[in-house]
Amino acid sequence: MAAVGIVVALLVWMATLLLISIWKHIYSSWQLPPGPFPLPIVGNIFQLEFKNIPKSFTRLAERFGPVFTLYLGSRRFVVLHGYKAVKEVLLDYRNEFSGRGEIPAFRVHQDKGIIFNNGPTWQDTRRFSLTTLRDFGMGKQSNEQRIQREAQFLLGALRKTHGQPFDPTFVIGFAPYNVISDILFHRRADYNDKTALRMLSLFNENFHLLSTPWIQLYNNFSGYIRYLPGSHRKLMKNVSEIKEYALEGVKDHQRSLEASCPRDFTDTMLLEMEKEKHSTDPVYTLDNIAVTVADLLFAGTETTSTTLRYGLLILMKYPEVEEKLHEEIDRVIGPSRIPAIKDRLDMPYLDAVVHEIQRFIDMIPSNLFHEATRDTVFRGYVIPKGTVIIPTLDSLLYDSQEFPEPEKFKPEHFLNENGKFKYSDHFKPFSAGKRVCVGEGLARMELFLFLASILQHFNLESPVDPMDIDLSPIAIGFAKVPPHYRLCVIPRSQV
Ligand code: HEM
Repeated sequence: MAAVGIVVALLVWMATLLLISIWKHIYSSWQLPPGPFPLPIVGNIFQLEFKNIPKSFTRLAERFGPVFTLYLGSRRFVVLHGYKAVKEVLLDYRNEFSGRGEIPAFRVHQDKGIIFNNGPTWQDTRRFSLTTLRDFGMGKQSNEQRIQREAQFLLGALRKTHGQPFDPTFVIGFAPYNVISDILFHRRADYNDKTALRMLSLFNENFHLLSTPWIQLYNNFSGYIRYLPGSHRKLMKNVSEIKEYALEGVKDHQRSLEASCPRDFTDTMLLEMEKEKHSTDPVYTLDNIAVTVADLLFAGTETTSTTLRYGLLILMKYPEVEEKLHEEIDRVIGPSRIPAIKDRLDMPYLDAVVHEIQRFIDMIPSNLFHEATRDTVFRGYVIPKGTVIIPTLDSLLYDSQEFPEPEKFKPEHFLNENGKFKYSDHFKPFSAGKRVCVGEGLARMELFLFLASILQHFNLESPVDPMDIDLSPIAIGFAKVPPHYRLCVIPRSQV
């Protein structure tokens, strides 16, 4: 009898908890955007396909509209889907939604640096970094010259493959790595340098791990699974190793710093730290500088490198596009002059191909998480401070009104009927507003100049039939990760 009493009491207790949780949810969410009903503890976990969360968002947007609410555990998300809603959030509510949603895998970066900083130092660190990146891009050596110089090293490394099949991941990765490393540390590495290779492989591995279902789960339930074994441990170890590398570089610079002639971005930040020496609440601590440098090194390398790598695979699949590019390059630049940014004006086809590569690969489909910095009324809903905001980018890049047949790779998406470049305001792979990518200008310059240089000197050849090339990403999460592949580059002078 006593046992039955205990079971009944337990059941009553559980039912009460469930009712309280449902009531709390209804009470707190009555002014929130609509969304699927969340279960206690797990939230809407069963409404999401963890292998392809962006696809789940699209499905939910069809059901609930362009602004909807979701829960993962007790974490509240508001997702924006489609041009109007995303643009409104990023531009008209630029202050209210400019916080950064936490990504537990980057806990050592939290509230430091730029990307994962949701604290009071973000604004100053971002502003200072933008100005300094611009100054070093316009200084004695402009970013254009930096990229042009690096392109020659890249061409040299490609020639060394002697037309044999190779995996382009690291050969291509060295080019953007050296450009950003030169800006940050005033140094570049040979294409077989062990330390640089180690960094490149850590960046590449992290980009992939961040896009796996397990890490999507970890980032939302880290409280429960932090102590379990799994790839989140590897990811966090890698993040710490990259930060340690950046910190060593910063300390090296500190030892040889000369106030009268800052050599690079790091020196300039260290001088700022000197100025704040007596402040009780400094922005530029060694730790903040190291995280800023690590942010720029990772973001400045892996994004551009992945875009170039994916782009070359796409061009192998569509040799007719490559042929048109060769024709334009030969006509506008010729076989020997180094490609320059001013050529872009006379090269609408290459410009359109670069845009279409970025649109088609849709590299960061759900953007980086933003966060509401205060209680905000948006379209009549009340979005509480601390809510994670997801202004999806794929919903713009794959908008079928703006880009007919969005699933197809068509440079014509960015060309008008006269073959001139056609601008689209839906093209937002770098996001927009207060958190817009810090490296947009640099990345666009690199994509144009590196692709022009490679195609000026080489024909791409696939070791497999182009018809058999599958362009589907191998992981979709934080990023869309391109499949592994091999390619041959054949010097055009030998053709
Ligand atoms: C193809 C190349 C690139 C793409 C597609 C890309 C895309 C993005 C996106 C979508 C964001 C998030 C924006 C938001 O939260 O609304 C971002 C942020 C950022 N990117 Fe990029 N990026 C690229 C290259 C670069 C480069 C070359 C650098 C460095 C020189 C860089 C540095 C950053 C930084 C520091 C942030 C954080 C901004 C902040 O939180 O205030 N990115 N990027």
